[in-house]
Amino acid sequence: MLVGARGQAKDLIGCLEDDGRFRIVCLLDEIAETRLLGHAVVRPEAYDGGCRDALLAIGLPEAKVKVLAQYERFAFRWQSFVDRRSFVSPHAELGEGCIVAPFATLSGDVRVGAHVYVAAYAGAGHDSVIGDLCSLLPYSGLGGGSRIGARCTLGAGAHLLPGITIGNDVMVAGSATVTRDLPDRVTAFGTPARTMARV
Ligand SMILES: CC(C)(COP(=O)(O)OP(=O)(O)OC[C@H]1O[C@@H](n2cnc3c(N)ncnc32)[C@H](O)[C@@H]1OP(=O)(O)O)[C@@H](O)C(=O)NCCC(=O)NCCS
Repeated sequence: MLVGARGQAKDLIGCLEDDGRFRIVCLLDEIAETRLLGHAVVRPEAYDGGCRDALLAIGLPEAKVKVLAQYERFAFRWQSFVDRRSFVSPHAELGEGCIVAPFATLSGDVRVGAHVYVAAYAGAGHDSVIGDLCSLLPYSGLGGGSRIGARCTLGAGAHLLPGITIGNDVMVAGSATVTRDLPDRVTAFGTPARTMARV
């Protein structure tokens, strides 16, 4: 089952159907819509708990945190999905519940936490570390040896130069280039990136 029935779920449904190895039982979400791309959307109060194998179809870290807490009672077994058109090095480590989209690249000995979303064409290189619940949006990337804390987002096309370390809960804006280490809870814009505190 897919947890989440919004944009990220649409992308994931396409990948799962194309892959052919999965049967989507239903999608779990609180939205008013009852179907998404031909699949039933079930509200949590109506869900019978029948399927425990779940993929977290949520794009942004804050929403992942909220949804994981909200649905803890269902005791889902979080599965990972690695699209066959991505590249994941045999030396890479992935935590539970990760989504690796087509054409994403996790090379070298990258270490990826739990519930990380690596979107199409995003990637990370050797010696890099990605914390739990991060999202690397399309075409974003970490240079070799860079590290990001938990719950960070790299916006579309954002990059970290090699060896950069950023804290927890950081939002790197689309197309930004991070050239210096960043503390916790900042938004970084532009090239070279400048920061402002996140509220
Ligand atoms: C960083 C971000 C979260 C800021 O969102 P926000 O808080 O809603 O900010 P706003 O859109 O109100 O913009 C605030 C200011 O920052 C500027 N800004 C927004 N995004 C920017 C970016 N990526 N680079 C540079 N400046 C940016 C805006 O022009 C605006 O400037 P102004 O105050 O002079 O008018 C968002 O712009 C972003 O980059 N998100 C990533 C989204 C993404 O990559 N999605 C991928 C979908 S596939």
